[in-house]
Amino acid sequence: MIAGIQQLENDALAELENAGSQDALLAVKTKYLGRRGLLTGLLRNISQVPAEEKPLFGKRCNEVKVLLENKIEESLLRLSEGAKKQTLTRGKIDVTLPGRGTRPGRIHPVTQIRREICDIFSSFGFSVVEGPEVELDYYNFEALNMPPDHPARDMQDTFYIEEKTVLRTHTSPVQVRVMQQVKPPVRILSPGRVYRRDSDVSHTPMFHQIEGLLVDYDVSFADLKGILTAFLKRVFGDATTLRFRPSFFPFTEPSAEVDIRCVMCAGRGCRVCGHSGWLEILGSGMVDPTVFQNVGYDAEVYSGFAFGLGLERIAMLKYGISDIRLLFENDIRFLRQF
Ligand code: DAH
Repeated sequence: MIAGIQQLENDALAELENAGSQDALLAVKTKYLGRRGLLTGLLRNISQVPAEEKPLFGKRCNEVKVLLENKIEESLLRLSEGAKKQTLTRGKIDVTLPGRGTRPGRIHPVTQIRREICDIFSSFGFSVVEGPEVELDYYNFEALNMPPDHPARDMQDTFYIEEKTVLRTHTSPVQVRVMQQVKPPVRILSPGRVYRRDSDVSHTPMFHQIEGLLVDYDVSFADLKGILTAFLKRVFGDATTLRFRPSFFPFTEPSAEVDIRCVMCAGRGCRVCGHSGWLEILGSGMVDPTVFQNVGYDAEVYSGFAFGLGLERIAMLKYGISDIRLLFENDIRFLRQF
């Protein structure tokens, strides 16, 4: 049996020597090392080898196997290197042609806006935190003063994962998660994806929001106005005119929606602003005492304001994009412009 291995090794090496092409090499490989190969066959019959010869037999088989594998690998490499050189020297490749180059990508407009807003609020001392996109009903609604059957839930038609688990409809639940974990002062900004059952030129089922929250002693509506005014002037320019309009959100009291003079028509009235001259930019308000109570903050001691805005909307206004869906089609010709 041992002598048989030697014979097999000699034969295989001789055949490799003569194999001048990739196909020939692979044929030798299959003949000896394949599943039905000669060496594989020898090893399979190890049970017929006398017990005292078994260790040596096994060792030799392995040696031959490794040797053949290495030789074949080497020869294959040599062949392909040779082929490459031949192609070059025969002039099939014109090495003087300029390269194809790579086109660098761009930062997506929504990401640009998110970064810009996070930078502005960082300079106001806010830190950026993130929350889960699959959220408990409790954080998305209940803790924000929207109990089951509250009519305000209708404005945010939801994707349910399970009975009490939803894809979050806004970034506001992060307010609650943060307040549960830290004591005031709180100054946070929370960007992220949100989901609603909604789809048209200005709505996609997934979009992005940024939430802001500031809680401390003696925070007043004047602080809200000051911060939001400074912020919007940084985004849309110093000449931006703002309007604070009374509104309602279950988690703020009082609440205000903030509009800016239409950036398209400078207030004269156009299609974008629905001929009102104003663009609705964000929702805001003073944190409702019920929310403070839900997170264990003493509403007699602390006060605060919160706000939330949609990133796509800001990107569309800032860059003059008329259809929100363009932002998610991944057409490079569109994305390259920003
Ligand atoms: N969560 C609200 C929405 O998605 C936006 C909002 C309004 C957030 C007022 C706030 C706020 O923090 O104070 O429509």
